[in-house]
Parts: sequence; structure tokens; C-alpha cells
Amino acid sequence: MMRGLFISMEGSDGSGKTTQIERLKDYFLNKGYEVIITREPGGTLISEQIRNIVLDVKNEVLSDMTETLLYAASRAQHVEEKIKPALESGKIVISDRFVDSSIVYQGYARGIGMDIVEAINSYAVQGFMPDITFFFDIEPELAMKRKNSQKSLDRLEQEHISFHNKVYEGYKILLKKYPERIKSINARQSIDNIYEQIIKEVSSLLKEDAYETHICDHS
Ligand SMILES: Nc1ncnc2c1ncn2[C@@H]1O[C@H](COP(=O)(O)OP(=O)(O)O)[C@@H](O)[C@H]1O
Ligand SMILES: [Mg+2]
Repeated sequence: MMRGLFISMEGSDGSGKTTQIERLKDYFLNKGYEVIITREPGGTLISEQIRNIVLDVKNEVLSDMTETLLYAASRAQHVEEKIKPALESGKIVISDRFVDSSIVYQGYARGIGMDIVEAINSYAVQGFMPDITFFFDIEPELAMKRKNSQKSLDRLEQEHISFHNKVYEGYKILLKKYPERIKSINARQSIDNIYEQIIKEVSSLLKEDAYETHICDHS
């Protein structure tokens, strides 16, 4: 089936995803493509409602498996309502995190099992997997420092770090499993260098002609 190009961005908090998404969006717009930026839970009303259950502090007893299924449910709605229609109408979709985040956070770091989370999510996405995924490779500690710079980490944040290191490990495992789809970018480099590498990958994909992406008609 011909459809628009689907790109996802993955990596630790502070690894630079949002920064590059903004740039990439401008790149596509300047070339005249229709592009939508989305992020999980995706801004659909139902996805937000599901997400609120996950975030509600009253739900202390929420199990890891329930959390996994709720994220998948939220994603199912996100795909159905937003991603699928956009791709089917030939738009370029850039998602700030997608299935890989669940596989790594719930599957690996929380211990549900990567294969199990991947299987659950395969139903949620209806085959709408990203054509290309950029993994922003940078040690979580370094990435987090970008967000809260100059601050030394207290005990709780240290625990946090060990969880995020597990997430980082999980991404590396996933990278080995899907070397074709997931492109690892050295995210310790300058913003400009990273951008250049992303553009190189994306423009060669667009040249392949496998995607029915539109150039907008502004007339
Ligand atoms: N390559 C980079 N080098 C140094 N700082 C960066 C780089 N990319 C982004 N930043 C800065 O790091 C912080 C986190 O970046 P952001 O794009 O919000 O990350 P994410 O969306 O992955 O959490 C921002 O203040 C941003 O300006
Ligand atoms: Mg961000």
C-alpha cells in the first residue's frame, strides 16, 4: 500500500528529540510537504483519558501489566484517529516516541518482557510501524544534565538514573534486532551535525519513491 512517510524519534529524556523534530518539520515544510508532528499519547481525547489513569497518583496499585496494556490502548486510539488517516492521505508523520518506547520502558526496564510488549503493541498499531526510527544515542546521565543543568543528583534521582540506564540498555538491544529500521545517531554531537545526518537518511528514503508523499498545492 502506498502511503506517506512515517518517522519516529526515540531516546532518553534530554537526548535532543524535540530539538531535531522542530528542525525536520521546517525542512519538510520548506520543501512543500504536508507534515504532522505528534507525540504519545497523541492528543486525542480518548488517549488522554487513558493516559490520566496511568498518571493518577491515586492509582498506586496499578500493575506493570495494566500500565503496559493501557499504553497500548492509548496508542491504538492514537493510530486509528491520527496516524493512520494522516499516512493514508500521503502526509509525513513524525512521532516523538512510539512503540519502541513501550518495548524498552515497560518491556525491558520494568521487566514485562520485550517480546510480550512487542506482541501486544502489534495489535495496537495495525501494521502502521515507522519506516525509519532515529535513536538518539547518549548516556542518560548526560542527557538528563541538559534538562536540569549544573545540578548534582540526589539519592532519588540516582535511582532514577539506574532505571534510565536500563532503558538505554534496552534501546541497544532493540537496535540490534531492527538494524534496518532503527538508525542510531550519536546524540553527543552538535545540533547541526545531528541534523545533517538525519536529513541524509530521510532524503535518501524520499528518493526511493516508495512513499506517496504529497507536495502541497498552495494555490
Ligand atoms: N546536540 C545537542 N547538544 C547540546 N544540547 C542539546 C543538543 N540537542 C538538544 N540540546 C538541548 O538539550 C535540551 C533537551 O533537548 P530536547 O530536544 O528537549 O530533548 P528531548 O526532546 O529528547 O527530551 C534542550 O535544552 C536542548 O536545547
Ligand atoms: Mg522532548
